[in-house]
Amino acid sequence: MEIYLKDITNIGDYLSLNVSKIKKDFPILKRKINGNKFIYLDSASTSQKPIQVINSIKNFYEKNNSNVHRSIYKTSEESTKMFELTRFKIKKFLDAEDYEIIFTKNCTEAINLVVNGWVKKNIPKGKILSSVMEHHSNIVPWFSLKNPIKFLDVNNYGELNFNIDNNIKMVSLTHVSNVLGTINNVKEISEKCYENGSYFMLDGAQSTPHMKISLKKINCDFFTFSGHKMLSPTGVGVLAVKKELTEKMNPILFGSDMIKEVNLENFTVADSPYKFEAGTPNIESVIGLSSAIDYLEKIGMRNIEKHTKKITKYAFEQLQKIKNIKIYGPKKRIGLISFNLKNIHSHDVASIINEYGIAIRSGHHCAQPLMKRFNVSSMSRASFYLYNDEYDVDSLINSLNKVYGVFKL
Ligand SMILES: Cc1ncc(COP(=O)(O)O)c(C=O)c1O
Repeated sequence: MEIYLKDITNIGDYLSLNVSKIKKDFPILKRKINGNKFIYLDSASTSQKPIQVINSIKNFYEKNNSNVHRSIYKTSEESTKMFELTRFKIKKFLDAEDYEIIFTKNCTEAINLVVNGWVKKNIPKGKILSSVMEHHSNIVPWFSLKNPIKFLDVNNYGELNFNIDNNIKMVSLTHVSNVLGTINNVKEISEKCYENGSYFMLDGAQSTPHMKISLKKINCDFFTFSGHKMLSPTGVGVLAVKKELTEKMNPILFGSDMIKEVNLENFTVADSPYKFEAGTPNIESVIGLSSAIDYLEKIGMRNIEKHTKKITKYAFEQLQKIKNIKIYGPKKRIGLISFNLKNIHSHDVASIINEYGIAIRSGHHCAQPLMKRFNVSSMSRASFYLYNDEYDVDSLINSLNKVYGVFKL
């Protein structure tokens, strides 16, 4: 595979991405929507997939397909090897030598596993801290504990002022807000947690696609991401857990593949990570995730981060020029911008610009408490990735400028 960096351009300490070449790897971006070029600005919801990832799944089914961890014939051994090598690859990708990598369906399932498999058993009532900027996936699972949670507020720019009292023993926060784009200072938060004797879970759903993650540096206890937001197929997520904690963590799904021995009275559990992965896993998605990580790493996570920040900054500057626009969140952000046009519902905005082939998200973004914090019921959100460039942003701005005309405002 080619590395899609411009040959000689060295901007600061990074090489700028050759986005027009990258775009060609994503077959869906060749589509026309309503006769217009398809401009995809909803990667924070799910990313598009490059042909390399699509082909890895096709190749797997054509050459290697068999169940994993069960049989000793050739293709089953190959499937198992490909599956387990991905686990190893993720460990390196996250710089997570001291962590166990557990495959889940997505981030949501990973958080449910921590809440019901670990917190339920190890954290007493009334000692959990989260924030108002969380996705529902990091709010609702906590309610299943019937255990009061404290939520930190954000300021009017959408920034978190992290503070913790001695009573708190478990902290669960997002790394990057899916609504505000705020990048939380996770190193400082993790240090405060450790000083306080609190465990720390970090939701990396919106950071892992764009940033070089080092769990060694962040030093949280639990970390999770969803593959589908970073070029991989849907159906696979990861929970990284500090190795020493897995002994005290219970499985939440029971059945095949998570056992050592079964008789008609009882069973014994397999070692970690297998005890957390009951049933046939989503093998094809794990294979796809492996190929997605190859793709991202060939371009370089640091180059991707700088690119996403550059496009987000450009979009921020251009959006500010639109009349009567309200932009939510801080200036220093990554990957996305949420906004409202005065007196126009976000669904109307998204529906009108869809006519021009532009896909953005509208609604509450699975963050209703945050909507309430900013006194709105919904927002429009444009999100960016390695296949977006200034042309996509300009197309968004042109189409948004037409929205007021539709309402004769
Ligand atoms: C910050 C954050 N956390 C968790 C999730 C849930 O991810 P999934 O639906 O893949 O489980 C999302 C999805 O948008 C998210 O943005």
